[in-house]
Amino acid sequence: MSSEFRIERIAVIGLGLIGCSWVKGLRARGHVGFVSGYDRNLESMTLAQEAGLIDFFSEDITDVVADADLIIISVPIMAVRGVLESILTSISSTAVLTDVGSVKGSVAADVKAVFGDGFTRFVLGHPIAGSERSGVLAADENLYVHHKVIITPEAHTDSKALKLVRQAWRAVGADIEDMAVEHHDEVLAATSHLPHLLAYSLVDTLANSHENKEIFNYAAGGFRDFTRIAASSPVMWRDIFSANREQILKTLDLFEHDLKFLRAAIELGDTTTVMGVLTRAKVARDHFSKILARRAYVDPMKTASVTYIATPGQALSGSFRVPGDKSISHRSIMLGSLANGTTEVSGFLEGEDSLATLQAFRDMGVVIEGPHRGRVTIHGVGLHGLQTPPNALYLGNSGTSMRLLAGLMAGQVFDVEMSGDESLSKRPMGRVADPLRLMGAAVETAEAGRPPIKVKGGSKLKGIHYDLPMASAQVKSCVLLAGLYAEGETSVTEPAPTRDHTERMLKGFGYDVQVDGNKVTLKSGGELTATSIDVPADISSAAFYMVGASIMPGSDITLQHVGINPTRIGVINILRAMGGNIEVLNEREVGGEPVADIRIQSAQLKGIHIPEDQVPLAIDEFPAIFIAAACAEGETVLTGAEELRVKESDRIQAMVDGLVTLGVDAKGTHDGAIIQGFGAAGSFGGGEIESQHDHRIAMSFAMASLRGSDPIIVRDCANVATSFPGFVELANAAGLALKVNEESVDA
Ligand code: S3P
Repeated sequence: MSSEFRIERIAVIGLGLIGCSWVKGLRARGHVGFVSGYDRNLESMTLAQEAGLIDFFSEDITDVVADADLIIISVPIMAVRGVLESILTSISSTAVLTDVGSVKGSVAADVKAVFGDGFTRFVLGHPIAGSERSGVLAADENLYVHHKVIITPEAHTDSKALKLVRQAWRAVGADIEDMAVEHHDEVLAATSHLPHLLAYSLVDTLANSHENKEIFNYAAGGFRDFTRIAASSPVMWRDIFSANREQILKTLDLFEHDLKFLRAAIELGDTTTVMGVLTRAKVARDHFSKILARRAYVDPMKTASVTYIATPGQALSGSFRVPGDKSISHRSIMLGSLANGTTEVSGFLEGEDSLATLQAFRDMGVVIEGPHRGRVTIHGVGLHGLQTPPNALYLGNSGTSMRLLAGLMAGQVFDVEMSGDESLSKRPMGRVADPLRLMGAAVETAEAGRPPIKVKGGSKLKGIHYDLPMASAQVKSCVLLAGLYAEGETSVTEPAPTRDHTERMLKGFGYDVQVDGNKVTLKSGGELTATSIDVPADISSAAFYMVGASIMPGSDITLQHVGINPTRIGVINILRAMGGNIEVLNEREVGGEPVADIRIQSAQLKGIHIPEDQVPLAIDEFPAIFIAAACAEGETVLTGAEELRVKESDRIQAMVDGLVTLGVDAKGTHDGAIIQGFGAAGSFGGGEIESQHDHRIAMSFAMASLRGSDPIIVRDCANVATSFPGFVELANAAGLALKVNEESVDA
């Protein structure tokens, strides 16, 4: 392969795996003319020439570098200075130099000491790649493909030199990242140098203190995995440990401190603390494994873009349980964390939103085991037991996490910052900041009341009465949760009933909450007592299947153990009003929440004017209801639903745009939409839908495919994982024909 980028003459000093692989990669892709090489070991030079890696070598290093346009120094860190001294007077006046060492501060100091302050053509680099094998013969032209190369430019580094080295790395497939010299050495001390040091030290300890042969005979996978890196080159690591001494000692001190902490917990039999360390580490490691699995050492900010390709399916059938209720799952973690004692949760939604809440509480020192098949054990710390999180709390796509946590954080003694993904960063937070400020909290938002939110700790909150300006369970819950920490009484009135899971669950944890019509009141000073929580299946997730079965002739499904809290059943009421055939069976109460099995059979729906009092009770289900309306006979009109414009996306716009793409006569209004249903004889056309990264838009259009005449492509469906893990598998088992396309993209 040839390319416009070409370096005429390269000299490589040190013929090991790292330098040779780079040169081999450049050669194989036609980017280099002539390569000269030098190594202290004559045999390596001969081998390199025989293998066609270099065209020329000499035992005199000055012959090798003379005339080179790019000089790659690939020798152990402590040998760098000697190499620089010996080539100082032989390099050309335009030669660019670079290195591949694992420590950058010491190389920068060597360059300065040998070439002087004014030398601008040395570009410090560090490829993060390696292999079990070493030496000239192990050279691999693809070693750097999709691997990270860190470049640490300095203020005086020449921009042309920098460009050349960048191009030479990019040409072999590497992903380049810039870092400051000191930052590089700090990061590498933690992620690479410390683990190597520990591995060498552990093997040495065990080898010295036991009948070594014997214990190594019994060493299983754990020992092998942990100590694999102790088989690397001692010379190289001796050099690194001394070249990056300061940073390594710093991380070693931190590690010793934490190790002593863990040791003390084991000694004291403090199993909760031990569990805290292990669960936090496991989460971190799992996260890291995902990054590694995607592409070794590549930018963690790459995410997968998920597209659904939905072809017309069959009538839905079967009896199944959709994942746990998102609202209840969030609250189970929050109240379980703040309770005294251990709370056991089952049916927990293992979706990204509720996991964001779970991680936030782990970050604040709560020990949480699981989730494992929906089971979570929370070791509550009491209302005043949360600890300062090490960083900003990252809440992903989850508005519920951010708004409810804002209330809880207002009552803490420490400062907290909360941030989220692109969609959450656009959502209004003034609606929670305003009442919290009235209570005396110090809350800052970014421009126009958007995230991130900063809550200052230590404010003395006072109870207020708050008349909610909009029907919002999140705002209601935020104020009530802040009320747990506010002096005196806190109450809210709501303009229309909204989901009351917070009130119910507070009572379940033994907290006194008064509900009088549309007013909810509580006083501070109480405490939460741990309990067990059985999370029912989420009616919001069930809604997609209710609609799917309703619109697809011949369908008959039963959804098990669905939460039918009266503040959530708008979708059932609306579908029934449209003529849906929905039976609520086997009603029971589980842990303070009503639950039932729901049977849905297909029916010819008709258009209606949706009663406004049903809007808050079906607020998350409108994307699915819009699909039902499109299949209905006649016109459906929605009003009083302006809140839909500030959900994970502007759901009115996103749904209307999608429906129009599929040939439906639909238009948005400021507070709703008007949809002309195509009725029994009609169907959706094919087309490409932008889900706007909104999970519910994506799932709604997937369901539409049941009545599609042609394939429906739904873009950006990764966020379905926020609320409905396993959606595609379940959908296909029920009768849909969904295919998933996944590719890695820049976030
Ligand atoms: C939720 C309340 C609703 C809903 C959201 C979850 C909750 O939001 O849309 O998905 O768990 O309290 P609003 O309260 O903002 O309407």
